[in-house]
Amino acid sequence: MKKKIEQVKILLDALPYIKKYAGDIFVIKYGGSAQIDPILKAQVAEDILLMQLVGIKVVIVHGGGNKISSFLNKLHIKSTFVDGLRVTDAETMEIVEMVLSGNVNKEITTLINQHGGNALGISGKDANLLMATPIDFEKYGYVGEIRLVNVEVVKKILDEKLIPVIAPIASDNGTNSSLGYNINADFAASQIAIALKARKIIFMTDTPGVMDNSKNIISTLNLQEAEALKKSGVISGGMIPKVDACMEAIKGGVLKSHIIDGRVEHAILLETFTSEGVGTVIKGISKIKKGA
Ligand SMILES: Nc1ncnc2c1ncn2[C@@H]1O[C@H](COP(=O)(O)OP(=O)(O)OP(=O)(O)O)[C@@H](O)[C@H]1O
Ligand SMILES: [Mg+2]
Repeated sequence: MKKKIEQVKILLDALPYIKKYAGDIFVIKYGGSAQIDPILKAQVAEDILLMQLVGIKVVIVHGGGNKISSFLNKLHIKSTFVDGLRVTDAETMEIVEMVLSGNVNKEITTLINQHGGNALGISGKDANLLMATPIDFEKYGYVGEIRLVNVEVVKKILDEKLIPVIAPIASDNGTNSSLGYNINADFAASQIAIALKARKIIFMTDTPGVMDNSKNIISTLNLQEAEALKKSGVISGGMIPKVDACMEAIKGGVLKSHIIDGRVEHAILLETFTSEGVGTVIKGISKIKKGA
């Protein structure tokens, strides 16, 4: 009996959050580095489903960096990163698309559907959802910067009560090259969150959050502090685009950006439905009008 009361208490504790978030859009960036353990992956699918069932409109944008690297490795193609971005020549671009759109996207979609959800996997190329131009072709090759988000397609998917699962590949916004562009999934997620006027963006990765130079977790960051940590080199590698994407989302009107540990069981639910939250939250400096 005692245990049952505790279960009811847990539900009641979540009630204010359920009320607060019903009808809101949350973008979840499911990092490649967090898609490792099969048990955790199944829990992510359950978490997403539960969020949808309590009325949150969930949009998934996924990465897949480690799978791309291991596939390139098998083909004896070297992976090179500059400022946390994968340098992408034409050959690498083909592999990036195959792995992200063909493999990772369908794996996540299938996982959610096997848990009773209704996920629809698409690439940013579909219906020209994401249109991009090269960031700096000489430096990064086919790494794109998003110029346009045709967000109507995602809204239609959400209206049909489906869960969109988006691979971060973009169509060409200029030369009509069919290769398209490799978009860092963190930026794809932040641009989609801004265009959808999402309430929250949650980045699931493989660290407890943003760490300081003594490896302690930084629970709250504002835009200036994040800039300073980047300048000092404390934020490096894949965390650079992630923190930039967080800041971009906040500047674009998303209320809160969270970086959470995808290796922790039910991390998304802990962040969303408990007062403590987990990981690092990046907020604007002053005016958060609506409690997020
Ligand atoms: N200050 C920092 N705090 C935390 N992690 C950091 C920091 N600086 C660099 N990192 C690195 O950033 C990595 C996370 O970025 P990474 O791009 O590897 O993962 P991801 O974005 O989740 O996956 P994917 O790119 O495949 O979607 C961490 O594993 C860590 O090594
Ligand atoms: Mg990354």
